[in-house]
Amino acid sequence: MAQLWGGRFTKETDKLVYRFNASIDFDRRLYREDIAGSRAHVQMLAKQGILTEEERDAILQGLAGILEDVESGKLAVTEEYEDIHSFVEANLIERVGEPGKKLHTGRSRNDQVAVDMRLYIRRELGETDRLLKGLLKTLLAMMEEHIDTYMPGFTHLQKAQPVTLALHLGAYFEMFKRDRQRLADIYERMNYCPLGAGALAGTTYPLDREYTAQLLGFAGATANSMDSVSDRDYVIEYLSALALVMMHLSRFSEEVIIWNTNEYQFVELDDAYSTGSSIMPQKKNPDIAELVRGKTGRVYGALMSMLTTMKGLPLAYNKDMQEDKEVVFDAIDTAKGCISLFTGMAATMKFRKDVMERSARNGFTNATDAADYLVNHGVPFRDAHSIVGRLVLYCIDRGISIEEVPLEELKAICPVFEEDVYEAVSLKTCVEKRLTAGGPGRAMMEQEIAASREYLAKAPVIGEKGEETR
Ligand code: ARG
Repeated sequence: MAQLWGGRFTKETDKLVYRFNASIDFDRRLYREDIAGSRAHVQMLAKQGILTEEERDAILQGLAGILEDVESGKLAVTEEYEDIHSFVEANLIERVGEPGKKLHTGRSRNDQVAVDMRLYIRRELGETDRLLKGLLKTLLAMMEEHIDTYMPGFTHLQKAQPVTLALHLGAYFEMFKRDRQRLADIYERMNYCPLGAGALAGTTYPLDREYTAQLLGFAGATANSMDSVSDRDYVIEYLSALALVMMHLSRFSEEVIIWNTNEYQFVELDDAYSTGSSIMPQKKNPDIAELVRGKTGRVYGALMSMLTTMKGLPLAYNKDMQEDKEVVFDAIDTAKGCISLFTGMAATMKFRKDVMERSARNGFTNATDAADYLVNHGVPFRDAHSIVGRLVLYCIDRGISIEEVPLEELKAICPVFEEDVYEAVSLKTCVEKRLTAGGPGRAMMEQEIAASREYLAKAPVIGEKGEETR
């Protein structure tokens, strides 16, 4: 048991207590961030004359060696240390001797873990953003391909009006675009450095917090020292952004599952992205979409978990906050895995254009357009609605669609109908004449696609300029 704080104690920690308290099992993931934070801290200490240049260089060299050895697998981060901070410090002292003992001057594990987590989340914001951008590129390519793939649009999961697959996919494009914007907002707000806040009340050493912040690529130092060590808002904001990403993926997955059913047959999943049944030879199941939908609950759980952990904490640091790590790490792994897999699944699925178009043709998706036809010929909309309602009933009785009713029968229902009604209620007209901004008509969709293409070309991935975290 390697602890940093033995001095005040006369007894060994109980073994179970030690294990219960230790975080090395999971915070070993932060080794790069912990070393990066320490590097910046000693550089600042030397600049301020708190360490000599020789001490600084010895420590920097030792830290570089630890990083290299952990990365290469030569040095294992083992459970004999309480946490990643103790691991790095103990190893450093082992390597460089006396100067290593000065690393923790003017620092507490409270501001140390705070900077580790900020660096980690900051990097993961970039990773998540990069994956979302990949998904958006895939969606855009699909939109371009399906600008005139007609399909029914649904409300209440009942056929409503005809749309195009490009419009439907474009809705998801907007969702994931907003998700990226949320990540960028979070990044702006959280990119400040808590190092130098100490345990909670700063320190009497003349630290240059702005310099440390600058070395680590932060926009500046955090303000209040008590807030600096006890703030986990950025963790919760990130989890809430991930929860929304998962919610969007889950809705999309649900649609893929429905479209992939034998009843719909709108889509065929690639063999590489579906699985079979151990008993039913005919089966090809959409397990990936189901798992993405299922794992959404796990990410929501992480968000609720962190909100609940934080809600009763008095200022400043409390050990409860150690609970941030496992849930966040799991949520990040889960969400990132889901985005990647979903992107692969979407890129390889094949849409059955013929089936989708046929489906758009039945179910009276052009009933609104029949009513609009009457309105354009002077009938008030409310009357037109009721006339077409009767027409639909007439069609249901005969098992035909509106465009299959002969003109004289249409006229018997309403004399305003003329020959040109067939053109007005054709699938093509229903879609292509919907030219309101944001609508499915080709001219509008081309604009939407061009704007999306421009957005993808312009919006850089978070942190792409490359902050130094190692
Ligand atoms: N393992 C701790 C955490 O994750 C590090 C900070 C410990 N600070 C302390 N005063 N015990 O939050």
